Amino acid sequence: MREPWVVGVSGASGTPYAAAVLRALLDADEAVDLIVSRAARLTILDETGRSFRDGHWSEDLAAWLGRDLSGADLRHWPAGDLAAGPSSGSYRARGMAVVPASTAACAGISIGLSKDLLQRAAEVNLKERRPVVVVPRETPVTRSHLEHLLALHDAGAVVLPASPGFYGAGADASAAQLVDFVAGKVLDALGVPHTLFHRWTGELGAARS
Ligand SMILES: Cc1cc2nc3c(=O)[nH]c(=O)nc-3n(C[C@H](O)[C@H](O)[C@H](O)COP(=O)(O)O)c2cc1C
Repeated sequence: MREPWVVGVSGASGTPYAAAVLRALLDADEAVDLIVSRAARLTILDETGRSFRDGHWSEDLAAWLGRDLSGADLRHWPAGDLAAGPSSGSYRARGMAVVPASTAACAGISIGLSKDLLQRAAEVNLKERRPVVVVPRETPVTRSHLEHLLALHDAGAVVLPASPGFYGAGADASAAQLVDFVAGKVLDALGVPHTLFHRWTGELGAARS
């Protein structure tokens, strides 16, 4: 039976992280349910020039991810559809990644606001004790941001800030390599194999050799 990972894209900067996670999950032959918040449609437009037109989601998603999705097990659920599958704990799902996670999404999920399908799906996956990874992107942060992240941590989420390490690709790492570092950490947290970065071997300077 189909048991997808739910990927929620909220309206924080860092939409390339979402695209990299989606591509890597599909590369690993995982099924994916995608929820893009209304605000995320703005950040995707701002960061890539791509927009999602009602009735053209498949082709617009393919353009955003830069690949043919005809064989991919990828289902899009509108963020306003609170009757969608991922809104219920009885719907089969393996867990969820919120990537990137806006401060608003972190706040809403941490207090069970469920103001849209993304927040409801995250709450559902937390209550069902499935893996949930939240990738906040904001700097600097306020006390309330930190409190919401602590509440998410205490509820069982892995809080995985969009904070790339340079040790894999070295100081001359490209933006794509830094994005892949964060995406790879998300897949690690979900337990999905990937080849997005070189793992630390215990050898200083290996990235430059
Ligand atoms: C271009 C753009 C960039 C933004 N970047 C961030 C960001 O990095 N982090 C953040 O928390 N909010 C950011 N915001 C604000 C969120 O989009 C806003 O709080 C929104 O209500 C989040 O809604 P959502 O959680 O439903 O997606 C940004 C907004 C825009 C338009």
